[in-house]
Amino acid sequence: MCGIVAFKGNKEKTSEVIFEGLKLLEYRGYDSCGIGVIDNNEIKSFKWKGRVRKTEKRFIESKIKSPIAIGHTRWATHGEPNDVNSHPITSYNKKFAIVHNGIIENYRELKKILLEKGYEFYTETDTEVLVNFIELCVSNAKNIDKGISYALSKLEGAFGIVLIQRSNTDIMYAARKGSPLAFGRKGENFFIASDATPIIEYTKKIIYLDNGQLLKIDKTNFEVLDFELNKVPNKFQEVDVELQKVELGDFDSYMLKEIMEQPESLNQTMLGRIKNNKITLGGIHKYSKDLINTKRVIIIGCGTSWHAGLVAEYFLEKYLRVPVEVEYASEFRYRFPIINKGDIVFVISQSGETADTLEATRIAKKKGGILLGIVNTVGSSIARITDEGCYLHAGPEIGVASTKAFTSQLMLLLMIGAKTAYLKKNISIKKYEKMISELKRIPSKIEEVLELNNDIKKISKKIYKKNHALFLGRGNNFPVALEGALKLKEISYIHAEGYPAAEMKHGPIALIDSEMPVVAICTKSDEYDKMISNIREVGSRNAIVIGVIDKENEHVKDYLDFSILVPSTSKDFTPIINQIPLQLLAYHCAIFRGCDVDKPRNLAKSVTVE
Ligand code: G6P
Repeated sequence: MCGIVAFKGNKEKTSEVIFEGLKLLEYRGYDSCGIGVIDNNEIKSFKWKGRVRKTEKRFIESKIKSPIAIGHTRWATHGEPNDVNSHPITSYNKKFAIVHNGIIENYRELKKILLEKGYEFYTETDTEVLVNFIELCVSNAKNIDKGISYALSKLEGAFGIVLIQRSNTDIMYAARKGSPLAFGRKGENFFIASDATPIIEYTKKIIYLDNGQLLKIDKTNFEVLDFELNKVPNKFQEVDVELQKVELGDFDSYMLKEIMEQPESLNQTMLGRIKNNKITLGGIHKYSKDLINTKRVIIIGCGTSWHAGLVAEYFLEKYLRVPVEVEYASEFRYRFPIINKGDIVFVISQSGETADTLEATRIAKKKGGILLGIVNTVGSSIARITDEGCYLHAGPEIGVASTKAFTSQLMLLLMIGAKTAYLKKNISIKKYEKMISELKRIPSKIEEVLELNNDIKKISKKIYKKNHALFLGRGNNFPVALEGALKLKEISYIHAEGYPAAEMKHGPIALIDSEMPVVAICTKSDEYDKMISNIREVGSRNAIVIGVIDKENEHVKDYLDFSILVPSTSKDFTPIINQIPLQLLAYHCAIFRGCDVDKPRNLAKSVTVE
């Protein structure tokens, strides 16, 4: 899943459009970066392993001014992240250059054809096969449009591409099948990008290419075609997205900034949605009756968003009394899922662009589900294709490891659950109002947890050299254990697993010794006593036991090596509070180990490939 920015227009603007745009798209991948331009009838590429700034510096030093450019920030799928495999990739006869997001699944078959025609390959990428195949098809067809059309019709997989031709600085093509592409025009300046953010600085009027569409830009105009070259109607839509330039302020990393911001981001999630101790959710109002009457709830998401869905499952089943299934989007989409008319499908996604979640949403929609988005990024693909939804309003999340989006996802799902339970008459008004009052207190309780930052740093110092860690939780804190383990492994590269505490006896207990830190979530819950037994089981096998406990149960300290004392809240809401110390623990371990917490190796903020 890579980021694409392409530009045709005023050559004085090229460098700014491409590089400022690529910086905004680094969330899609950042292992290498490149720009391709046409200069003196030649395609020239500047591309290196590393971040955008490096390529930008070298391009500016070259002093080249070109009216046409394609830019790319990569997240490797085929071929390791190195200079040669970076995009743009130029075709064998140097006639075309391409930037590509996605995966060409039939690249082996196409490569065989090309090898037979004498093509040679210099990279390990499927993209090189793609650009060579286009070159071959154009040469066979003796017509650029027909050649491209034929080539596109033979491709399997997902792609978003932008193509330039050596001999013509007036022409640029973009095509989409699966991987999103946005297009904007301001006079004679044309912009293409993987999402609208690099474009909205110049124009808020955007065309989002649909699957199977080809955009052709020529000297002064453009047209949108299908892959058979028939013209298709297109319409610019005004996007309501403001470019939020996010400053680091006094923080060393976005991750820490975003952890510390959570009292504020949670208040933003609630803002305008709690009035007179009642919850109002305009975004899903149209479907509130369906929510009350539904026989089944399905929740889909990936990564941290999937964990948020798991927490919601406990709450929704308890209070709505309907079965709730939480699905990995990637599994859901391929296993012939059963969706009945009237099923409510919550789609959880910070970015709103995750490829598997997007496709799962399409499938669920086709099958008659009511799709409700729980999304952070305004105007994103998932926000656009769901029937209705509520935005998180958590503000831009830049750190690759999700923190504030997770707690806002929980807040929103708990609000939806509480309101629906009340409307269903499953809880009394008294209970409903009590829930709301407690939800309102969460941000200030999180402030108290954040004050423990130094204590958590000291605990991290005791464990950061370990190679493994185990996170244990029960009930609605089992997903907290999963998310705690995910945070630690993704940013500090310490292998960590989250387990339901009782399941530990069926395997992981064999791993426990003094080299295995165990993080146990042991705040007030129905399974509290059982959790203490599990803590004692690992303690007696010499594990270093770190407990997240609350004020009502301070005596658990006796069984712990280190304790993190958090404010008490209702049992139903403990996951929001308990996650915070685990985020800080992961953060400090990663910093002690010298890791780049904002951009961990091999990861990307938004996974736009399968
Ligand atoms: C990537 C990110 C995670 C995120 C997951 C799902 O793996 O690194 O932080 O939880 O994708 O992303 P989404 O934007 O759909 O929530």
